[in-house]
Amino acid sequence: MTHLGNYKLVFLGDQAVGKTSIITCFMYGNFDTNYQATIGIDFLSKTMRHEDTTFRLQLWDTAGQERFKSLIPSYIRDSSVAVIVYDVANKQSFINASKWIEDVRAERGNQVIIALVGNKPILFIEGKQNSKQVSIEEGDNKARELGALFIETSAKAGFNIKPLFCKIASALQGTETQTWTRQEDLVDVNLKPMTNLSHSEQQQGN
Ligand code: GTP
Repeated sequence: MTHLGNYKLVFLGDQAVGKTSIITCFMYGNFDTNYQATIGIDFLSKTMRHEDTTFRLQLWDTAGQERFKSLIPSYIRDSSVAVIVYDVANKQSFINASKWIEDVRAERGNQVIIALVGNKPILFIEGKQNSKQVSIEEGDNKARELGALFIETSAKAGFNIKPLFCKIASALQGTETQTWTRQEDLVDVNLKPMTNLSHSEQQQGN
C-alpha cells in the first residue's frame, strides 16, 4: 500500500448548492434535508484508499453566503484541489461556477486540480419532476473549456459521490486522462436509502 500524502481540497460554490451535503455523504454516508448554512469555513479530514494508494484528504467546506467571501482566497491559495459545486436546477449557480474557476486559476494557475460538480440532478436520478436548468452537456463543455474534471452528483441519492473522489484521487496520482464524464459514471444510479454508519465505522474512515 502506497501513501500518497496529504491533500487539501477546498469546496466552493454558491449558497445551498450542496457542498456540505456532498462532504457529509462522503464522510458518513448520510443526508440531511434540513438546510443549515455553513458559517465561515468548516474542516474535516478523511483517509481514502484508491487503487492501492492511501490519501489523507483535508476537506475545507466554505460558506456560499456573500458575507463570508473574504475568507475564501487564503483557502484557495493553500489547496491542491478545488471542488466547484453548482445546483443543476439553478442556472445562476452554474454561471457563477465559471467565476469560481477563474478565481482559482488566477490564484493557482495549473498547480491545482479543479473538479466541476453539478449537484442535485433531480429529474433523472432523484425521480422528481423539478426542472433541470443545466444539462449534463453544458456542464461537460464548461469543464472541458476550463480544464476541469466533471461529474454530476446527488448527495441525496448518494449518487456519484465516491466516483467524484475517485476521479480526484486519480488526478492526484496523475492517471486521470479524461476531463469529461464517462458514460459509466452516468448510469451508476443507487436509489437505496442511505443508512447511518455506526460510530466505529465512521472512525475507521478518519
Ligand atoms: P452553504 O453552506 O450555504 O454554502 O450551502 P451548501 O452548498 O453547503 O449546501 P447544503 O449542503 O447545506 O445543502 C443545501 C440544501 O440542499 C439542503 O437542504 C440539502 O438537503 C439540499 N441538498 C443538497 N444536496 C442535494 C441533492 O443532491 N439533492 C437534493 N434534492 N437536495 C440536496
